[in-house]
Amino acid sequence: MTNSRADVTAEVGDDAVLVRDVGPRDGLQSIGAEISLDAKVAMVRDIAAAGVARVEAGSFVSPKAVPQMADSGEVFGATASLDGVLREALVVNERGAHAALAAGADVLVSVVSVSETFSQRNVRMSTQEAIDEMDTIVGVAREAGVPTSINLSASFGCALEGAVPAGAVADVAAKLAALGCTELLLADTIGAAAPSDVHAVVEAVRASTNDAVHLGLHLHDTRGLALANAVAGLNAGIRRFDASVGGLGGCPFSPGATGNVCTEDLVHLFHAEGLTTGIELDALIDAARSIESALGATLPSRMLRSGPRFA
Ligand code: COA
Ligand code: ZN
Repeated sequence: MTNSRADVTAEVGDDAVLVRDVGPRDGLQSIGAEISLDAKVAMVRDIAAAGVARVEAGSFVSPKAVPQMADSGEVFGATASLDGVLREALVVNERGAHAALAAGADVLVSVVSVSETFSQRNVRMSTQEAIDEMDTIVGVAREAGVPTSINLSASFGCALEGAVPAGAVADVAAKLAALGCTELLLADTIGAAAPSDVHAVVEAVRASTNDAVHLGLHLHDTRGLALANAVAGLNAGIRRFDASVGGLGGCPFSPGATGNVCTEDLVHLFHAEGLTTGIELDALIDAARSIESALGATLPSRMLRSGPRFA
């Protein structure tokens, strides 16, 4: 099945949700065992075939920093003919931005951490240096006619610094919105948010960015609160969500970080709430099952174990 490509720059309707699967990047990047190129390509294909319109298919960063993503160029090469899906790439510097565009990335995704300590650990830059780097990346993308999505990591707390005030998130968000990025994804990198935090941070960022940028949530389920936080996001008007097929995930630079919210569990929730996603849930569960067997590991997906309600 194919669906039409998502328009990242357009507003998402109130009764729809735009889901971005980050499994092939956020999900796989911290797995130590070698994963074959074929398995990575199959994963992107299967997710896209289920109707997910946006897939973060890899990253163009230092292979020393993230060895698992060293073959991202080949993943993009082998998935170039896929219809109906935006293949998105994580980059953290200008060199990565050019490499991702050359490989055919449809969206450049980048990351700025509100926590100084995490920023240094992840990209060896201060938060301000990372913001300055975004200026360059957004410019390179704009010249290529490609949208930019920035993950604001540690928006709900940091493993190294603890609580992060909503005002600090709002300040960094305002600087990024002023650069003209397309989308900001408020990231709960360590799964520390509670639903009331989601409301507080979304409202603070909305106020500081004056609705100049599309907002989304990037949730991790480290403490079992991701679906509750997603509902809080929906209630706060968020219609863009990152998730990872099977619930894969974890950042190698954030101690104790575990999986992203599971895409099929999130889609099941959205459908139960009467929202449309364009995704075929059964096909997505099949994709998760294939990934589970390719990795030889049990994934935290609820849908894989119990299936959709009233199936
Ligand atoms: N693609 C490939 N290699 C790159 C690169 C890119 N975009 N940018 C830098 N490199 C290489 C350099 O060539 C250098 O290689 P060498 O040691 O063989 O000479 C090495 O990476 C280090 O580069 P340097 O410019 O000295 O940067 P650094 O050591 O300060 O590292 C980053 C900074 C940003 C390159 C590195 O920390 C990084 O790639 N981080 C990515 C983190 C990430 O993906 N996190 C995922 C969660 S958001
Ligand atoms: Zn993440």
